Amino acid sequence: MEEKELNCYENLQKISKMIIGIPKEIKIGENRVGMIPAGVNALKKAGHEILVEKGAGKGSGFLNEEYKRAGAKIVSQQEVWKADLIVKIKEPLQNEYQFFRPHLLLFTYLHLAHPRLKELTLELVKKKVTAIAYETVQLKDGTLPLLKPMSEVAGKMAPQIAAYFLQKPQGGKGKLLGKVTGVEPCNVVIIGAGNVGKSATEMALEMGAKVTALDINIEKLKGLEKIFNENLKTLISNPKNIKKVLRKADVLIGAVLVPGAKTPKVVTREMIKEMQPKSVIVDVAIDQGGCIETSRPTTHENPVFIEEGVIHYCVTNMPGAVPRTSTISLTNTTLSYVLELANSGFIEAVKKDPALAKGVNVYEGFITFEAVAKAHGLKYKSLKELV
Ligand SMILES: NC(=O)c1ccc[n+]([C@@H]2O[C@H](COP(=O)([O-])OP(=O)(O)OC[C@H]3O[C@@H](n4cnc5c(N)ncnc54)[C@H](O)[C@@H]3O)[C@@H](O)[C@H]2O)c1
Repeated sequence: MEEKELNCYENLQKISKMIIGIPKEIKIGENRVGMIPAGVNALKKAGHEILVEKGAGKGSGFLNEEYKRAGAKIVSQQEVWKADLIVKIKEPLQNEYQFFRPHLLLFTYLHLAHPRLKELTLELVKKKVTAIAYETVQLKDGTLPLLKPMSEVAGKMAPQIAAYFLQKPQGGKGKLLGKVTGVEPCNVVIIGAGNVGKSATEMALEMGAKVTALDINIEKLKGLEKIFNENLKTLISNPKNIKKVLRKADVLIGAVLVPGAKTPKVVTREMIKEMQPKSVIVDVAIDQGGCIETSRPTTHENPVFIEEGVIHYCVTNMPGAVPRTSTISLTNTTLSYVLELANSGFIEAVKKDPALAKGVNVYEGFITFEAVAKAHGLKYKSLKELV
């Protein structure tokens, strides 16, 4: 590498004190924040400087005062983006592009492969921002540690939401999901026994429902059986089994994911037609297209619709309804990566931690995540060739 090139990487090398910025999210309806005061405290103790934009934690119930007490400086939007490392929740929006500059480190959910985000991808490339996406940080076993916390939250929410819409005033069957002595419990069917499915199973069983979990992966089903009680039944996921269990279901929770592929529609319209009227569907997988033929995306403002006589809840960002829990859960997991980046500097950190390296989508003007380059017909370069 030529000397001139080396110089331009200076900011990304190990520096004893990194300045970390936590901006206020500007996307409508986003109330989460990239770091909680406890995280600020940990970074401060490690010798770093933390800038928090005024009011950044408000939506999650964290006050400026709490951040100050933890050691942060409360600053304006202009000031916060001057930090070396920006820790956020959502992808930057158009009026944040003005803050992009070479060597800026950005750590957030990005979902750059989405067709809607080609412009953002090109901006990050053009301005030579180093962008690390939460959703592509990947452990050796293939799991995605920074997606897991939100799956856990959405999974726990699903039975809670179904319970609400089963009530008569909400248009439901008038059944209580919670168990009552001497009354037949509700039947909950959960398709997909991964992170969402496991949390939904736990919550539904705790409420006293009878749960049937289906998956194509027998190991996932065995895993659930090891944890949960006799009220859980497991079945291999195929059209025949799905059809059979749906006839008796009060609630259907969709939690299927095939990583890197379109979510298969495992429940057809014909199967929905045979469900009991006023049953409730929560298609958690809707953010990836949904696993139920009759699903379509909805919002927190207008969360449900009725199709074939069945109530459908298909909100694409379910954890957004519980920003306090979601923020704490997510930042509990992101903090160790932020510390790694701040303590070692970007280059050392990605060399030491292959999971973090997988998160790097854009680096020094190159797209370093193949699926993003492919999605937009742009050139890909592996991070290994560059650092
Ligand atoms: N709506 C929201 O707000 C929200 C929030 C969090 C997660 N999600 C979504 O929920 C979905 C599930 O996430 P996860 O973390 O549980 O994924 P996961 O990978 O942990 O689990 C997915 C499961 O689906 C199973 N599966 C694949 N094909 C199947 C089939 N044909 N039939 C039955 N099971 C099948 C897999 O074996 C796996 O166990 C994802 O699409 C995720 O993006 C949505």
